[in-house]
Amino acid sequence: MASMPGMSKSSARKESPAHPWLHPEKLTQFVDPLPKPSVLHATEQRSNPLDPSQRIGYLRIEMRVAEVPVHRDLPPARMWSYNGTVPGPTIETRTGQPLWVDWVNQLPSDHFLPVDHTLCGAGADLPRVRTAVHVHGANVPPESDGFPTNWQTPGQTYRAIYPLQQDAATLWYHDHAMGIERLNQYAGLFGFFLIRDAQEDAQPMPAGEYEIPLVLCDRMFFADGQLHYPDSGDPDAPWVPEVYGDVVMANGKIFPYLEVEPRAYRFRLLNASNTRFFRFTFSNNLHWTQIGSDQGLLPAPVQLEALSLACAERADVVLDFSQSAGQRFTLINQSEPVMEFRVKPPGIAVGSPAQPASSPSSFAVPQTLRIVERIPESAAVQTRRLTLNEYMNPKTRVMLMLLNGKYWHDEVTETPRLNTVEIWELVNTTQDLHPIHLHLVRFQLLDRRAFDVDDFLDYGKFHYVGDPAPPEPGETGWKDTIPAHPETVTRIIIPFAGFPGRYVWHCHLLEHAANEMMRPFQVLTA
Ligand code: C2O
Ligand code: CU
Repeated sequence: MASMPGMSKSSARKESPAHPWLHPEKLTQFVDPLPKPSVLHATEQRSNPLDPSQRIGYLRIEMRVAEVPVHRDLPPARMWSYNGTVPGPTIETRTGQPLWVDWVNQLPSDHFLPVDHTLCGAGADLPRVRTAVHVHGANVPPESDGFPTNWQTPGQTYRAIYPLQQDAATLWYHDHAMGIERLNQYAGLFGFFLIRDAQEDAQPMPAGEYEIPLVLCDRMFFADGQLHYPDSGDPDAPWVPEVYGDVVMANGKIFPYLEVEPRAYRFRLLNASNTRFFRFTFSNNLHWTQIGSDQGLLPAPVQLEALSLACAERADVVLDFSQSAGQRFTLINQSEPVMEFRVKPPGIAVGSPAQPASSPSSFAVPQTLRIVERIPESAAVQTRRLTLNEYMNPKTRVMLMLLNGKYWHDEVTETPRLNTVEIWELVNTTQDLHPIHLHLVRFQLLDRRAFDVDDFLDYGKFHYVGDPAPPEPGETGWKDTIPAHPETVTRIIIPFAGFPGRYVWHCHLLEHAANEMMRPFQVLTA
């Protein structure tokens, strides 16, 4: 990703002799097996508080401190978790079966990462530990969406009811508390939330132990194994505009390995980094078969040499190890190893050498996965041109990022009407890529097109340069997070379906979102 130009207060990462950093290149690689998050199904049925005649699934999930074994040779890292693990348990749900979750905040009363009280919504008059759980990609009434200012403090519980009247998709849950979501997620508050449905079940896909969720996120650690989040060097305003960790965790482990059988597997990938984008390849040049993106299956599978994931994006992929029996190879981000795959010789099941492997090696991904009707541009009742801006505050020399030049507290300007379609033109005037996410909805990418930024910023004259580029092959399905490329207009078409009320849209670089690159929008009643 492009660097932040003119940044004078970027992460002042100074190593102190008293508290040295972990240098991950010194760690022994591939000594820990990849953990698989535990799975949570609603085991209990309760009557729906919103409609007592209906029985719905119920789950209780606690946020609490956990000692996370991130690597064999490090003491456990003290992190914040859902139900004691990082990542949290994978919540398994089904379309049409509403779920009630009680999210119980059992965290300590002080934060262990640098809260910045100068940020909007994180003032010194507010509790330092606040949580607001958001299910990213859920079509949900506003009360259950985890609105950033609707936070809970330790001892409090957030009752959320997810209607789940939406297609199968790889969703995830994470913290969203105003001004500190960057710290709460960095601390470990994230997990998968999978929705399944009959349409997807009808596709023959690797399942059960052959379907593996894989959340990737970068981090920094101290040599004593504890998390390190950088700060600006100013204790009164520690916010930094971006955070790049020097090591990638896969399902909460540094440099894990995964033993697989020589057959096809399905992986659900999620980028849960604060800032880092991934570009994944394999050391043996194995190809990716992408079958789904943020909001479910693609129309057809896509073959990729490299898989790119911006923050908060998901990819549903099939990897076929049948031609790699007996091999070891690594998953690589840019040029850095992330984890190792160890493919068993044919005929030997994972973990139990005596057992024959589960199934024959041949698996053909279905060539039609799902019908995704393209929404015609003519369906849109409104087109909004919305700028993504970065300004240097001349006094503080701190970068400020805004959506359409507006602050969080400015009046709401995006007011789509329920059950209408709009086109949003994300005019990125910056040299950074910002992954833009809208709550509540799913949308389609229309195109991306470069424009003349200088003419626009200096003279208010808008004109395109070059031709529109169609979506990448992996972007042809339903999305909820879209990379808005630098100096480019990214056009998305959005059906506002589901519920009226107040939601947010924001950049999913968490440091940007925490500092004004987030805005409310209001869905008006139909
Ligand atoms: Cu992934 Cu507003 O969040
Ligand atoms: Cu951003």
